[in-house]
Amino acid sequence: MPLVTSTEMFKKAYAENYAIGAFNVNNMELIQAITEAANEEKSPIILQVSAGARKYAKHAYLVKLVEAALIDTDIPIALHLDHGADFEICKSCIDGGFTSVMIDGSSHSFEDNIALTRKVVEYAHDHGCVVEGELGTLAGIEDDVKVDAADASYTRPSEVQEFVERTGVDSLAIAIGTSHGAYKFKPGTDPQLRFDILEDIEKRLPEFPIVLHGASSVPQEYVKIINANGGALKDAIGVPEEQLRKAASMAVCKINIDSDLRLGLTAGIRQHMMEHPDHFDPRQYLSPARANVKDIVRHKIVNVLGSAGKA
Ligand code: G3H
Ligand code: 13P
Ligand code: ZN
Repeated sequence: MPLVTSTEMFKKAYAENYAIGAFNVNNMELIQAITEAANEEKSPIILQVSAGARKYAKHAYLVKLVEAALIDTDIPIALHLDHGADFEICKSCIDGGFTSVMIDGSSHSFEDNIALTRKVVEYAHDHGCVVEGELGTLAGIEDDVKVDAADASYTRPSEVQEFVERTGVDSLAIAIGTSHGAYKFKPGTDPQLRFDILEDIEKRLPEFPIVLHGASSVPQEYVKIINANGGALKDAIGVPEEQLRKAASMAVCKINIDSDLRLGLTAGIRQHMMEHPDHFDPRQYLSPARANVKDIVRHKIVNVLGSAGKA
């Protein structure tokens, strides 16, 4: 099956109260693990590529690896640019075979965000591609940009309708308390997403797909392995899975996960090297690392997103 946009995925997800997993990829092992798990669970899936991933692996390599996964699977797969910072990178991905792009104008003023997003939407829609916009700022780290919790701000529900109408975006990322990376909440505090904001947005934008970034749960079994092997992931805390399940049953149709895959991959390598310090064939340590990622994605699809069997 060729790459698809997320339009039909989101329509069905909204109507049936589940969400599509959007997993970040930057190498072959991640693409294989994610698509194999999704294929076995008959789940639609979004593979997303950040500017940093594109710089690391190169655009053509990632597109060709995803094309290989299409041959190997029989599920709807969308290829998405994560956190596009300007028109040029969005255009380059649209011209280069992606079916979806995010233009992240959330750090600009409301009017500048609208103007930039509108420009990307016009180009994307002329080329059969869909667009995700963002209102509100998440704390955390994207590429080399660190947003402190103090500078993060929740999405203002009063702005969403005007933003969507004036830009023509196909989906909207909002800030309701999640953040990027492995340190999402202060230790000792009660992690709580702002469902009141999500409910308000849902009322103002009926049947419109909402996106949740920074939605990793930070599985403690992998954190423990990394810490036990000389790593220093102190106080890593993620979003509780039951809150993600609740969001998926509401207007949230796309849930972004990157950090959990990084943790699983790294824990797999560290565990293997601890047990076999003499190994130096990458296939030996990348196999269990890839298996961890596949386990994580299967768990998300079945127990968190609710997208199993929806392909
Ligand atoms: O939102 C950020 C994603 O986790 C991508 O991270 O920009 O380091 O590739 P990256
Ligand atoms: P995490 O860091 O929580 O995995 O978030 C990933 C993300 O939002 C990618 O855009
Ligand atoms: Zn993000």
